[in-house]
Amino acid sequence: MDGRDLVRSVKAVGSGGAVQGLRTVRAAWRRRRTDATGLPRRGAERARVPGPVQSAEPGPGGGVVRFARTDLRITVAVNGAVFWGWDGAEPEPSYALAGRCPEPDPRALLEPDKDGGWRVVAERVTVVVSRHGAIEVRTPGGVTLRRDLPPRWWEPSDGGAARWMQRSEVAADARFFGLGGRASGPRLRDGTYRLWNTDPGRPFGPGDDPLYITMPVQMVVADAATHLVFLDTSWDGTVTLREGREGAGSGHDRAGTSEMRMDGGPLRCWVMVGTPARVLLVWASLTGAPAVPPAWALGHHHARWGFGSEQEVRRIVAGYQERDLPLDAVHLDIDHYDGHRVFTVDRERFPKLPLLAEEMRRHGIRLVSIVDPAVKAEPGSPVFDGGSAEDVFVRDASGRVVEGVVWPGESVYPDFTDARVRRWWGRLLEERRAQGFEGLWLDMNEPVSFTAFGENTLPRSARHALEGRGGDHREAHNVYGLCMARAGYDGLRNLAPEERPFLFSRSGWVGMQRYGGTWSGDVATDWPGLRASLSLVLGLGLCGVPYSGPDVGGFDGSPSPELYLRWFQLASYLPLFRTHAGVRAGRREPWEFGDDVLEHARVALVERRRLLPYFVTLAHLARRTGAPYVRPVWWGAPEDRALRDCEDAFLLGDGLLVAPVLDPGVERRTVLLPRGRWYDTVTEEAYQGPGRVVVDVSTERIPVFARAGAVLPVRGEDGGLELEVWAPARGRSGGGLVVRDGGEGWDEPEAERYVTRWKGRRVVVRQDGDKGRTEPLYPVRVRGLGHG
Ligand code: NOJ
Repeated sequence: MDGRDLVRSVKAVGSGGAVQGLRTVRAAWRRRRTDATGLPRRGAERARVPGPVQSAEPGPGGGVVRFARTDLRITVAVNGAVFWGWDGAEPEPSYALAGRCPEPDPRALLEPDKDGGWRVVAERVTVVVSRHGAIEVRTPGGVTLRRDLPPRWWEPSDGGAARWMQRSEVAADARFFGLGGRASGPRLRDGTYRLWNTDPGRPFGPGDDPLYITMPVQMVVADAATHLVFLDTSWDGTVTLREGREGAGSGHDRAGTSEMRMDGGPLRCWVMVGTPARVLLVWASLTGAPAVPPAWALGHHHARWGFGSEQEVRRIVAGYQERDLPLDAVHLDIDHYDGHRVFTVDRERFPKLPLLAEEMRRHGIRLVSIVDPAVKAEPGSPVFDGGSAEDVFVRDASGRVVEGVVWPGESVYPDFTDARVRRWWGRLLEERRAQGFEGLWLDMNEPVSFTAFGENTLPRSARHALEGRGGDHREAHNVYGLCMARAGYDGLRNLAPEERPFLFSRSGWVGMQRYGGTWSGDVATDWPGLRASLSLVLGLGLCGVPYSGPDVGGFDGSPSPELYLRWFQLASYLPLFRTHAGVRAGRREPWEFGDDVLEHARVALVERRRLLPYFVTLAHLARRTGAPYVRPVWWGAPEDRALRDCEDAFLLGDGLLVAPVLDPGVERRTVLLPRGRWYDTVTEEAYQGPGRVVVDVSTERIPVFARAGAVLPVRGEDGGLELEVWAPARGRSGGGLVVRDGGEGWDEPEAERYVTRWKGRRVVVRQDGDKGRTEPLYPVRVRGLGHG
């Protein structure tokens, strides 16, 4: 730590100025001291590998294979997922699982394999264990998808958590996706990715890693099949990926490799195999169905750090209304709090928040509140005093409450890994409800403590309840945000049982979709930032978190009108469609960038509102099937290698393909189309896939294509539901699903199924239900007929 660090830290905390800067220096020293006394020193270590196989014991769904120095439990679950755990590791307890571990599949049997190995044969996958502990995952046809070499552990000779390493090989043609929210994806190229949720502390771009949500989850897409692998440990670690290379006819393929090195935690793994859709279905059945946001949360949100007053919020809302621009939610950032204290309101600048909320609600606009985990350490303030009395704050190994520094200054942190603390915190949300807030925006929950040097989080030795098991921050860090999201979800549910809770959380972990979504965090305002924000949405969707979106326009600075517009247009097709920016950033209202931008932004907003029933349907389908709303273009054709490498377009559900503009000055762009006929949704011109097409691009809109045969629920002119049907190619048929709900409650309506086909010279649409095929319930508009 030198003078420069200090200057940097003062700058980093900006408006807080020198006092905050000094606090961060103190916090850094405190953190260091706490760890120096609270963490065992790493002494000598002993390396271990499984050694040769000794015996095996079949059990339900698999069994246990015993090696000289460890054992391996393998179980195939009824949902088709395969679990294995080394060293006696069981699937539970786990923060990732949605409930109890699924039952074993009694049909899967452990049987001897050649050369003294063992194998488990299940319906969709065969797992072969070699006599030295290598594990191969094969398709039922016998093609190897993944080969894990025998793991290696390093055990401290005086006890404590063992580090471990797992090296795996995948097919030479395989591509890696996932690992949570990564700015450089969605295809994860060669490199080392850290598994430690991190606030980068400044606006990030594609080169920044890790970010707020990391997950030990890989989706691997190869010619033979797709598989998802999850190493269920929340400890710090890294994954080093290297894509393979094919021998171009010489036959010498180089396998792709993944090497995972973890600082601790059990070595246990879940694998699922099949198509991408099948894999995510099993994944959702294991880690939980994505929460369905209320319908308003699928509209347009406007946020800003620094509205600063009720008048300003009114001015923004009026700005939307006067210009007849759809707006569904306004988010208040930390500046509405009294001195940045959570669960308070600055009554001078926001004197009548409940009234404002009520007025907005009458116009169909909801109020969402940012909530940070940290509580100002301030005796006399109700939240701090109440929390202290109930002993909810994280302590260090010596029993002292851990202090960090966040916006309000010295702060303490509720231990969200304790059910009791989650309940306490959930009850505090009553204050937010009373102020008129209907949704939560959970921030800074990596969790962040500003420090002048070192990591900007809690000391690694800080103690956590970990649901009664007890442990320290090394294990709890990555699940802190997940547990806070759980507290928020349960809290809202208790307070308003009839409403589906709405929350999105900056940090989280495997399973966070059970409680809500996320957003892309403080993405840098430049073209690479725009690309990074799409990468995050796609990557998180493949990890089971389907609801997210970026800060339109980026978090800092001032986007050019063109960049702002392209961001706006992209986000209008993403699940969370929100404009937001930092306190020192330029304006982000659609009317601040000139008349052209305003008119084009209006087109995007109106189209988003028109597509709302489609978004609602996609939200329900995500809940029922685990399929993200936003999918990579290879979703239905993972064997198509060109599609696998395509990162500049995406599918929105089954029906639409969106080709955003991600670079400046683009007048034409190439679009890679999957198989089938696709219509430009504006000109209705038809294109034939698979293959590349080049289309003209205007500033008015980004290219969007509809799949021939798609039936999309849209909002008609009169506000009622309408079916937009894209003519199937001659001789072909098509279809689509519609799920309608009341917008906010818990109803689980049936998915209505519509089918479409040519009948003579007409395209007909029928509902396909219990009573056979019947007339559709809604008006139908057939498009693309000019090209039938
Ligand atoms: C960091 C968040 O990422 C950002 O969205 C928010 O505006 C600031 N914290 C202030 O609360």
